Amino acid sequence: MKQFPEGFTWGTATASYQIEGGWNAEGKGPSIWDAFTQTPGKITEGGTGEVTCDHYHLMEADVKLMADMGLKAYRFSLSWSRIMPTGRGGVNPAGIAFYSRLLDELAKHDITPWVTLYHWDLPLALQLELDGWLNPVMADHFRDYARVCFENFGDRVQHWITFNEPWVIAIMGHNNGIMAPGRQSVTEPYLVAHQLLRSHGQAVDLYRREFQSAQGGQIGITNNCDWREPKTDSPADQAAAQRALEFFLGWFADPIYLGDYPAVMRERLGDRLPEFSHEDRRLLLGSSDFFGLNHYSTLYAEEKSAAEMDQQSPYGNGGISEDQDVQLSMDPSWQVTSMQWSVVPWGCAKLLQWIDQRYGHPPIVITENGCALEDELIDGEVHDPARAKFITGYVSACHDAIQQGVDLRGYFVWTLMDNFEWACGFTKRFGLHYTDYETRKRYPKDSARVFAEIATRNGVG
Ligand code: GAL
Repeated sequence: MKQFPEGFTWGTATASYQIEGGWNAEGKGPSIWDAFTQTPGKITEGGTGEVTCDHYHLMEADVKLMADMGLKAYRFSLSWSRIMPTGRGGVNPAGIAFYSRLLDELAKHDITPWVTLYHWDLPLALQLELDGWLNPVMADHFRDYARVCFENFGDRVQHWITFNEPWVIAIMGHNNGIMAPGRQSVTEPYLVAHQLLRSHGQAVDLYRREFQSAQGGQIGITNNCDWREPKTDSPADQAAAQRALEFFLGWFADPIYLGDYPAVMRERLGDRLPEFSHEDRRLLLGSSDFFGLNHYSTLYAEEKSAAEMDQQSPYGNGGISEDQDVQLSMDPSWQVTSMQWSVVPWGCAKLLQWIDQRYGHPPIVITENGCALEDELIDGEVHDPARAKFITGYVSACHDAIQQGVDLRGYFVWTLMDNFEWACGFTKRFGLHYTDYETRKRYPKDSARVFAEIATRNGVG
């Protein structure tokens, strides 16, 4: 039996758009995910989060389920447009009341909340009126929204996460357009990432100046990163793997821990990579009390010239491929989940080591890890040995990393309940969007027009 350190946090995680439903209930404003899912062709089989797990209406019963399974920590996100229907200005009392009740229920059952301020469901009005995360003024609006959250919930929240996976917002939302707001650009991801980082810095600064001493909580950011293993031990492949990690995780973690974007990004991107002002840099450096990490998978990385690269590689998970010049691939012997993500527990241990070394031994919390797999029902019970094996493998890898000196403080399984999986909807066919590349290309390049129609229907903008 492997022992984890005293006080290690075990939990599960969810996100508002994936589980809440109640998409227009009691004063909630529409989000970019409401608009995106209503846009034809964006979601496999046309799934939406309009009802999904109906957590908005079943919250007490859901918390009871958590208590019955002995859950001690629960990570969830707040829907900005449920709290502030148009993203700025007015607050929706029903939205505040909902999350307040959730926090009280959790407290009643001794479950510690970990609260993410932003898990991708931007108020639609901010997208339409301001171009969303492309606009520098978003840092002010995010700070104001964060203030509403700290004021209303901070007395019961000791663990705040500003953003979930800014990489996904930048790349999947603004480069390949698989996720809301569905934009396709090679310049916007770097601008969006910059504003997300600035917004994070503003919210943390506000928390530290006005709330942290009274409320006594911690605040950080969650980044996602898969491991990149050099395909061979050639220096070129080793450099390619290192570069892939810096473009993936260093992009967001270097400014927070080291004070600027990775040098390799600056060299390759030139002035497509924005500069931080003196003030931004000051607010960002040291702005995470813990290193939040979502980790799922591993790929090989190898050096390839841009010309040789297969732009339509099914492994779209690498950032803007031509900027990195890294070719990603899988080992045929690796098992994959239903989402075609490889199951490689040792990649998790290696990534934890990489973070530990690059960022000076920070406290790390795995805020998501898990797998999408078929369940088999036997006598009314879920039989899922493959999931048990996955979790055992990854948790053992975490244990190995701790033994090697990594300061890992917690592990959250994705997810508490089956839910709406973004572009896959309720199917397991995430792969459709990568492999059926030709089909995807037929969809409109920019959803602006459809968004505007949906907004009009919803009385926004
Ligand atoms: C993460 C995301 C979650 C969920 C998960 C895979 O990237 O934060 O919301 O989609 O992947 O199921």
